[in-house]
Amino acid sequence: MTAEAVTARAPAKFNALLAVGPLRPDGFHELRTVYLAVSLFDSVTARPGEGLAVAVTGEDAEVVPTDRRNLVWRAAELLAEHAGVRADAHLEIAKSIPAAAGLAGGSADAAAALVALDALWGTRASRADLSALAARLGSDVPFSLLGGVALGTGRGEQLAPVLAGRSWHVVLGIAGEGLSTPAVYAELDRLRAAGRVPDGTDLLPAEPVIAALRSGPPAALAAALGNDLQAPAIALRPELGRAVRAATAAGALGVLLSGSGPTVAALVQDEAAAVRLAATLAAEGVFRTLRVVSGPVPGARLVG
Ligand code: C5P
Repeated sequence: MTAEAVTARAPAKFNALLAVGPLRPDGFHELRTVYLAVSLFDSVTARPGEGLAVAVTGEDAEVVPTDRRNLVWRAAELLAEHAGVRADAHLEIAKSIPAAAGLAGGSADAAAALVALDALWGTRASRADLSALAARLGSDVPFSLLGGVALGTGRGEQLAPVLAGRSWHVVLGIAGEGLSTPAVYAELDRLRAAGRVPDGTDLLPAEPVIAALRSGPPAALAAALGNDLQAPAIALRPELGRAVRAATAAGALGVLLSGSGPTVAALVQDEAAAVRLAATLAAEGVFRTLRVVSGPVPGARLVG
């Protein structure tokens, strides 16, 4: 245990591909997804303290719980149990990633907490151990820990790193209030049962996305993007369809919903194009907030 405060940060992600298979008996869906970690970070500062306490500042802080419902709290309990230490720490989450936006903000916080507490408590957990704990916290948490670009299978927690041949520039447009991930998956199941979308036995392939990320021009990646959660999210929130059309009309190379939404990810050629697109979309007032990001960036790590 160090006497000092320790800070770790972890990135947001978007899914360049999110192919969703049928519902499994455990309530999760089999996924084939390609994650890209982008330059929007939450940080978690861990300080010595008696028992656990969580405080939240920054973006959407008012909607983030500060009790056991926060993944950071559960991350602390899991790591303490794994390492055989007392779960004593005061944790402060400084948020830049909008909450419930399909950007894995809660997962980033959990991953950053694991890294910060491992350092604070001197538990020296291996990356493999941290990744196993992360998978127990949520399907996206192992990727928040790993960062970069990765193919995710299983429920998204089984990762294989993917090479990115260049930096990718994306405008993230957050449209409206947060969307509940389970509600979007449940809507997909309803649309499938009604025969309104393909049933998920024939998953979109990952190879075109992986090949484009490795060596393609941005137009090739734009053509390969796909997200099976886009149709159900738009069914629940028709204005998301308008947001996708607005980003397309404003000149993005490719546009898709990030994860379960309500963030729209617009892929552009380069940083200058990203700044121009964000300015156009800001003037149109379609989005609650816009972020210009690039990736890949590393996963959860200590700062300072
Ligand atoms: O793993 P995580 O806690 O982030 O998942 C939240 C919810 O999203 C799950 O309870 C489930 O309803 C849905 N989900 C799913 N299939 C996945 C990942 C998440 O159905 N592969």
